[in-house]
Amino acid sequence: MLRSHIAGIGYYVPERVVTNDDLARIMDTSDEWIQERTGIQTRHYGKKHKETSTTMGARAAEIAISRAGINKEDIDFIIFATLSPDYYFPGCGVLLQRELGITNTECGALDIRNQCSGFVYGLSIADQFIKTGMYKNILLVGAEMHSMGLDFTTEGRNVTVIFGDGAGAVVIQPTTDENKGVLCTKLHADGTYAEKLAFINPGAHGGYHLNKMGEHFDFGYSDAEYGEMFINEHMLTHRQLFPNMDGQFVFKMAVVKFPEVIKEALNSVGLSQSDINMFIPHQANLRISAFVQHKLGLGDHQVWNNIQRFGNTTAASVPIALCEAVEAGAVKPGDLVCLAAFGSGFTWGAALIRW
Ligand code: ACO
Repeated sequence: MLRSHIAGIGYYVPERVVTNDDLARIMDTSDEWIQERTGIQTRHYGKKHKETSTTMGARAAEIAISRAGINKEDIDFIIFATLSPDYYFPGCGVLLQRELGITNTECGALDIRNQCSGFVYGLSIADQFIKTGMYKNILLVGAEMHSMGLDFTTEGRNVTVIFGDGAGAVVIQPTTDENKGVLCTKLHADGTYAEKLAFINPGAHGGYHLNKMGEHFDFGYSDAEYGEMFINEHMLTHRQLFPNMDGQFVFKMAVVKFPEVIKEALNSVGLSQSDINMFIPHQANLRISAFVQHKLGLGDHQVWNNIQRFGNTTAASVPIALCEAVEAGAVKPGDLVCLAAFGSGFTWGAALIRW
């Protein structure tokens, strides 16, 4: 039976390190508040006009491809997870293909918009394609350029202090080795609370049309109440162009859904919490990870946390953390690795990998 396994992994974070004190100079916040509530000490921000989710993803991908021992032209499918794409469209998948200089047009490219759970969703998609024998070298990238879309005034501080930029990538290949590979993936969604953690403008839920005289018109419909497809003055003056989050609500959901989906994954393959060697949680918030660690009864050496240095990098956080853990020798062949994520949507999921 074919299984998929991670044959190469890499990550990239931009050079510029931004401390909590740096943020406290531009908005009303403090190192103490940020550390106490989130565990974050620093995050990295990309270079404006030079770095994007695509370029950072490409740097991470180059490392993953080289570690997998393949050529970039061997990639037969690209999956790109991000909430901060370079363009509204086309997606980052094709931009990554171009950035890497992949000329093979047999290679497909898919963008997925699942925010914090994007990498786990992407892994699950890749797993299905590998198991059916459709593809042999899937490049899965999670990358975020959050710093270009955050509100750096005090009004946006509850969200802004949490997020950082970066990218992680893996090359996924088939294996017939029964002692390694992806054992299972579990995916969930509940759109009931979509706006609890969201960036709703601009979006195609409104419309802003000007005729040749520059007059506003519609096609007989009344104006959208809270959104437009294109950026307009109302959005700018009403600060509608930033992410918003009901932090406490997200926290309460996350601490329930993380353990639930991990237990579901373990049960489905006849394993238990005590079998986990390394837990790689989406780096949402150190307090959420600590809570889940406690629930699973894991020791500090069995959980990889790097939110302290990188902040929350959304779709990039799981591959960056996994890559660091592997590079540090904290994940060894034969180990049971558990990946789990929860985020906007809400969407959440888990994956179990025998390393
Ligand atoms: N600096 C200083 N004060 C702040 C900041 C800040 N950065 N942000 C908010 N405050 C203030 C608020 O204005 C409020 O002040 P008030 O009492 O005078 O009105 C006070 O701090 C408390 O605000 P809350 O929003 O209630 O703060 P809370 O204690 O809930 O902490 C936090 C906010 C850290 C976001 C918390 O809700 C949390 O951990 N939520 C989980 C959500 C999360 O981790 N999201 C990550 C992204 S989503 C994901 O990856 C799953």
